Amino acid sequence: MSVAYHESATRGAFPVPQGAGFFVEPSTVSADRHLLGLEGMPAATMLEILDEAEAFRERWRLEGKAPGIELAGFEVCHAFFEDSTRTRVSFEIAAKRLGATSTTFGTGGSSVSKGETLLDTIHTIAAMGVDLFVIRHSAPGAARYVARQLDVAVVNGGDGMHEHPTQGLLDLLTLRDAWGGRFEGRRLAIVGDVAHSRVARSAIHGLTTLGTEVTLAGPATLMPADVELLGVAVAPSVEDAMAGADGVMALRLQRERMDAGKLPSLAEYTRVWGISAERVSTMKPEAVVMHPGPMNRGVEITHDAADGPRSRVFGQVENGVAVRAAVLARCARAARAHRQHPAKPGPA
Ligand code: CP
Repeated sequence: MSVAYHESATRGAFPVPQGAGFFVEPSTVSADRHLLGLEGMPAATMLEILDEAEAFRERWRLEGKAPGIELAGFEVCHAFFEDSTRTRVSFEIAAKRLGATSTTFGTGGSSVSKGETLLDTIHTIAAMGVDLFVIRHSAPGAARYVARQLDVAVVNGGDGMHEHPTQGLLDLLTLRDAWGGRFEGRRLAIVGDVAHSRVARSAIHGLTTLGTEVTLAGPATLMPADVELLGVAVAPSVEDAMAGADGVMALRLQRERMDAGKLPSLAEYTRVWGISAERVSTMKPEAVVMHPGPMNRGVEITHDAADGPRSRVFGQVENGVAVRAAVLARCARAARAHRQHPAKPGPA
């Protein structure tokens, strides 16, 4: 079983079982060189990142994709200890478009197979002159653990069931586009496997901070206990969640993080909780359909919903490059400032 890196001021890092809940304290380092989560990030910081992402998107649309100079002389390592297509490739593209030099580390063919730890692996690559790591790992808290232990900038590319902050920000940008810039007075339905979803957690933190109502729906076995404490409502059915909503986010069934026995059958899941064009038609006329990908077509979302006129699935992907560029640029500015005026070590 994989473990989470749980830290306390007195005991340092120690492993706790997955699913233990919100054991990683809120991020208070949003303006620093790290991006570890959206929990605790002020609304103004989120909006600044979205504005910078929008500016990059406009620049690339109007002026083409010739490399910029924002990250010139900056070395980025995309350290992916877990599989990825969208996050890894979009970070790679974003880093190149801003003029960084970058490298990608994957566990396949690496010395992780010989027992090298996460910390020793990152420490080793950092010693080669890397300034910023994008880290994806199956253990909740892994990115924060590295940020605390080593003097490098860290962006969380998804840590187990905890958070996926750049996915949350690209979802916010997609909704800001669709909603004419207004988050207040809107309602998003998030449907499916909430319990295992770092995407849902980051979306919830981002949307509730910006004043959007969030309604969750999904099987009881895939809904965290006391999730209402995050400021969301839980609907008894997908129909209740979606009726009159301004958008729906279908979540992938995280079969790799799921114990057996959570669902009677995939066919039944699709019938009861799947996002179909018919269900989409019960939302507001301008409401949108989102999915973080990769999609299990025919399971949590049907073809007609995924490819229909309300779908923003590939718009989310486009926004992912712009958001990741904005995050890299922001963290690089802070990392350069940190290099000139290093902060005292201690809790973030
Ligand atoms: N949405 C997302 O994180 O996709 P990848 O796993 O392909 O990066």
